[in-house]
Amino acid sequence: MVLNFAHRGSLTEAPENTLPAFQKALDHGTKAIELDVQLTKDDRLVICHNHTFSKYNREINGRIRDFTIDQVKQVDVGSVFSEEFKGVALPTLEEVLEICPLDVKLNVEIKNIPVIYPRIEEILLDCLRKYDRLDNLVISSFDHVALEKVQQLAPDVELGMLFYYRILRAWEYAKDSGLNITSIHPNNVYTDRKFVEKCKENGFNVYPYTVNSVKRYEELVDFGVDGVFSNNPAVFGG
Ligand code: G3P
Ligand code: CA
Repeated sequence: MVLNFAHRGSLTEAPENTLPAFQKALDHGTKAIELDVQLTKDDRLVICHNHTFSKYNREINGRIRDFTIDQVKQVDVGSVFSEEFKGVALPTLEEVLEICPLDVKLNVEIKNIPVIYPRIEEILLDCLRKYDRLDNLVISSFDHVALEKVQQLAPDVELGMLFYYRILRAWEYAKDSGLNITSIHPNNVYTDRKFVEKCKENGFNVYPYTVNSVKRYEELVDFGVDGVFSNNPAVFGG
């Protein structure tokens, strides 16, 4: 069975990475959700793809890291999507954990910027432990050093290795990393049959991102992928 991750929630129906977007994905019966984490000035985890508010509100300059959680909560990230979502704020990870049932697999992507988030792995794991959410979870990152830190702090957590560009024999790189990588998350544009077969031969699940056409989805399923990230859980739900 292919696991369909709702990428940043249901981002075609609500502002991405917000509670309404996650709730809509859950309402469509999604069995897996992907989200991105950033850190505030007071070390709270907030869900946002970028490390600034630029996607949502061009009047707010500066990095999320420069704002306290109280200040982050005052930023309207909904109006840019539509009037209906006016006043919606970025959620904390805790708020998402409150609404995300344990049987929904969670993919937390660490948007690591080591210079500004030196302790993000530790803070993330503390939060997940508090909510007893270390199972049915995969932590991923393009920053593979961050994955190593996660493994040192929580050796049993599933790790997903993200690749943006093609790299030669990614499956060998993942094996040689010494990390307990359970899944490889390649950019779907270079995911071909050989890539999927090689990853699987080496014991990795393959979850390409981000797939929004049914034709491409079916192609990837035919290659043997184990999951897919998509922006539209109404189409690629369950
Ligand atoms: O985790 C899959 C995908 O979300 C990675 O890319 O830029 O959408 O965070 P991005
Ligand atoms: Ca992401």
